Amino acid sequence: MAVEEFVGYENIIAFMERKGLHKLEGDFVEVGAYMGGGTAKLAQYAGKYGKKVFAIDLFQPGLDDTVGKGGVKAGDVYEAFLQGRSMLEAYKENTRTFDNVVTIIADSRRVTFPVSQRFSFGFIDGCHQASFVESDFRLLWGHLVSGGAIGVHDYKFEGWPEVTVAAENILSAYEGEIAAVEELEAGHGILSLMLIKK
Ligand SMILES: C[S@@+](CC[C@H](N)C(=O)[O-])C[C@H]1O[C@@H](n2cnc3c(N)ncnc32)[C@H](O)[C@@H]1O
Repeated sequence: MAVEEFVGYENIIAFMERKGLHKLEGDFVEVGAYMGGGTAKLAQYAGKYGKKVFAIDLFQPGLDDTVGKGGVKAGDVYEAFLQGRSMLEAYKENTRTFDNVVTIIADSRRVTFPVSQRFSFGFIDGCHQASFVESDFRLLWGHLVSGGAIGVHDYKFEGWPEVTVAAENILSAYEGEIAAVEELEAGHGILSLMLIKK
């Protein structure tokens, strides 16, 4: 079975390697794991450096009622690619060989981490509504170490215009804490906005 992910995590991991994120303190975290194909790739990379991957998802495609360009509903897109399978079962199958994955089955707005939790990388690809993207960013940024990075997927992607609105809000609200910003073409011509912390 082909590895099931829709970002191009190889390119995300190449960025992480270029920035030496594996050398920093802290684990990796993603919001929006879907079928876990990307989680597995992150876990393989993380495992080489004794790190964990925290994966946050509702695992109930129908609960995402975001409406994108042209009236497309996010939940319908997720259901279509699942072709009748359970998202959680597909995720478990794709991540089953990794013992460094911590799965958090929850609405990302309700997730908290202990103050002591450190991340060197976070990837945001959950709900594509602006308020969710901004909430996901707030959740991760506070735990991100200096020199660490957060990626916001679907930046400037016309299908989910609210992601770009949220990313622009984040850029202006956190300007003083951001060391550098890169637009990364991860795959399928879709950008991720990568923000590196001072
Ligand atoms: C675009 S998919 C993620 C794709 C994944 N990064 C990949 O490449 O395979 C978005 C995911 O976000 C999840 N999601 C939507 N709203 C969420 C929320 N409020 N909390 C947690 N996860 C959510 C959906 O269930 C879906 O799996």
